[in-house]
Amino acid sequence: MLFRDQITGALVMAPMTKGSNLPYRRLCRELGARVMISEMVVARRLKQKRRSEYALLRKAPEEPCFGVQLAGNKPEEMAWAAALAEARGADFVDINLGCPIDHFTRMGLGAALGRQPGRVRRIVETMKAAVQVPVTVKIRLGWKADQLNYLDLARAAVDGGADGVFVHGRTREARYRYPANWTAITEVAAAVPVPVIGNGDVLFPHDVHDHLASTGCAAVMTARGALIKPWLFRELTDGYWDISAEERLTLYRRYTSLALEHWGADDHGRTRARDFLRWHAGFWCRYVPRRADGSWPSMQQREVNATPRSPLESLLSRTDDPALDYVTDELLNEGDLSTPPPALVATDNERRTRRDAEQEDPVEAG
Ligand SMILES: Cc1cc2nc3c(=O)[nH]c(=O)nc-3n(C[C@H](O)[C@H](O)[C@H](O)COP(=O)(O)O)c2cc1C
Repeated sequence: MLFRDQITGALVMAPMTKGSNLPYRRLCRELGARVMISEMVVARRLKQKRRSEYALLRKAPEEPCFGVQLAGNKPEEMAWAAALAEARGADFVDINLGCPIDHFTRMGLGAALGRQPGRVRRIVETMKAAVQVPVTVKIRLGWKADQLNYLDLARAAVDGGADGVFVHGRTREARYRYPANWTAITEVAAAVPVPVIGNGDVLFPHDVHDHLASTGCAAVMTARGALIKPWLFRELTDGYWDISAEERLTLYRRYTSLALEHWGADDHGRTRARDFLRWHAGFWCRYVPRRADGSWPSMQQREVNATPRSPLESLLSRTDDPALDYVTDELLNEGDLSTPPPALVATDNERRTRRDAEQEDPVEAG
């Protein structure tokens, strides 16, 4: 199938180290995701036969379109890794040109490779010759604000034969400090003849619909949105879901069972599953519903749910370690989360009193 046909209109689940683990992708699949990408896989580590890296290539049987994202800067090594990913079921392979982490950029990978369009073109060409499946690139806007090279980079990849371009609308230097620049993403969509998939700050279904309608992108991609609210994929077809705390808990329980199925329910598996659950809980607690005045929370601002509708919703909105540990352990042990230890309840009451006081401040000042 043509990449364009596979991707058009989709909300893609982004490549995320740790976040795009196989059980979490299965959860998102159950909630309606149809295109997803692996965690970043380092080609060199595959060459070194590292088992943990091979595990990242695994596709769940029910995944309809699974891309494997590769990091590397040697054309032959990347071509070999792409063929390996294809042999293991990848529906497309993607090249990481955006990873900002020093450890990788110092080796010339990720965003550092994104500074070398000529080299990127050669890598794409070599990979294309090695596989039948589509080859894509995931780029940023540039290294920093005064070194934007997104149009050159996208064109170089397409000259090399790239079948699609994912664009995260920020520079390496910006990290998450500024909102994604969808105007720049729109420029890329106009500049290359292959599908462009825009990425940055997508959290609600109207974000997806607006970007699809106004940017020329074939599809849109979400990373933190999928971590904070995996039901975003369902919202795409069913509309905004004013989800209750109980409904959220059902989804978190489902992830717990998928995680235990994947890593195993013995001591070793449970330790792995707990580690991932705890990590995910750190994103789940960031969910805030639509505001009472009808406006939408934004990804750029950390908001607290000022008026939790139930004790459970209040608990699930807590970002402190004791609360996140409690939620994690209750999920793992199939507890009902209804009886938090007295110390947690006390700190919650304290928190709420503090928050009420904060809210009253402006009134008093006025
Ligand atoms: C936890 C986490 C891990 C990520 N890992 C990767 C990765 O391995 N490869 C990659 O290309 N981008 C990675 N990203 C970046 C996302 O794919 C995405 O481009 C970025 O978060 C912007 O999208 P968002 O605003 O929807 O979060 C990661 C993001 C997060 C939050």
